[in-house]
Amino acid sequence: MEKRLQLFPKSTEIRRVDEVDQLAVAGCDLTQLAEEYGTPLYVYDQSSLDAAVDEYRSSLAAHYPGIAGITYAGKALMNLAAARWAAGRGLWIDCTGAGELYIAARAGVPREQILVHGVNKSATDLQAALTTAGTIVVDNLWELEHLAALAGEVAKDTNDFPQIWLRLRPGVAVDTHAFRQTGQDDSKFGMGFADAVQAVALCHTNGLSLTGIHFHQGSHFHDPRPIGPALERVLDLLSKLRDASGWTPAYLSPGGGWGVPYHEDDLPHPSIDEYVAFLAAKLVAGCAANNLPLPILHVEPGRSIVAVGGVSLYRVGAVKRTVNRRWLLLDGGMADNIRPSLYGARYSALPVANPLRPALDAAWLGGPYCESGDVLIEDLPMAEVQPGELVAVPVSGAYHLMMSSNYNGALRPAVVWLHGGTARLVQRRETVEDLIDRDV
Ligand SMILES: Cc1ncc(COP(=O)(O)O)c(C=O)c1O
Repeated sequence: MEKRLQLFPKSTEIRRVDEVDQLAVAGCDLTQLAEEYGTPLYVYDQSSLDAAVDEYRSSLAAHYPGIAGITYAGKALMNLAAARWAAGRGLWIDCTGAGELYIAARAGVPREQILVHGVNKSATDLQAALTTAGTIVVDNLWELEHLAALAGEVAKDTNDFPQIWLRLRPGVAVDTHAFRQTGQDDSKFGMGFADAVQAVALCHTNGLSLTGIHFHQGSHFHDPRPIGPALERVLDLLSKLRDASGWTPAYLSPGGGWGVPYHEDDLPHPSIDEYVAFLAAKLVAGCAANNLPLPILHVEPGRSIVAVGGVSLYRVGAVKRTVNRRWLLLDGGMADNIRPSLYGARYSALPVANPLRPALDAAWLGGPYCESGDVLIEDLPMAEVQPGELVAVPVSGAYHLMMSSNYNGALRPAVVWLHGGTARLVQRRETVEDLIDRDV
């Protein structure tokens, strides 16, 4: 259980309250938070997010001799509080489509810090990008032609058309679940190298400001080595483009995707520093080998910034024994965290009160929804837990709330931001009224 505790934010402690050991995060008692805001509840410890950014910054400074920056992948967690926090830390924010762009703009994120992604951007997405973003990462030639036409229309009125980056598909897979691979040959994301050559020419003939090259290999990988061959292929293409047209990118982004430990069996996990060191060394060597100038390196992490800072809290209801299983049935599940059902993501958990009490036997932590696949955690050694107790699931900060749903009329949970010993509600829990708000 001590090892399991390491999955929680560094600010986590066990405090003695009324003769009971209680989990507290960032100086806030989790039992009190659950009582005040209800469950399921998502809490975010800002100091954990800050520490991840600091680690990226210091690693980039230590390992990369050129200029470097960080784009926060907003798809991992996007709301006004997260966008304001990221922009305040000087990060760029990657938005996918008009919806996330709207949130970033409403949060007051400066245009030059907003970058737009999307594999099939709609006309609405592109219009929103033109008015709110500083950088558009173009996925394919069809999108680029659309943009070139728009540039022709708006060029008379504005000089601040966003800069363009091209998203490449390097044809190398990283080791992660197939649903999270994006850089392999048959991926739906990005353009192949022949299309990229055409795209560079299209940008130049249409006067678009082409400043960057992007590729993203996939999400939640733990071994950076497949980035090596992907980078080599990209740099080889860049040296050919330089020879043909004289163009070299000011920016290069190898995307995000660095993984985090979700379960005690994933510990110890290689650090952000190991990932950045590998990346930087490969880029420096590759640029030297191809006689290319060092680009501004923009990493694009999401999960490795926000996952560990998030903790989800659930209340146990029914406790059942079936033939081979002990079931702890929670008041949340696949509607607020689809990852276990979607691709078998493996989590861990601790009771909030007396968290280090020894395991009784294995437990299955199921949700309340009408799907047999609604099981948050399978086969986890767990203490004896009574109905009414709280359990805390660590590493809940990335891709839970953003993929949440109203399945079975579920109400999306409240979100509380912890900073400086105080808790601030940043998203209220949905109400039943929200469920019919769009009905006409
Ligand atoms: C283009 C792009 N960049 C960055 C990310 C962030 O990945 P992660 O949250 O694993 O760092 C993703 C997620 O898949 C992505 O699609």
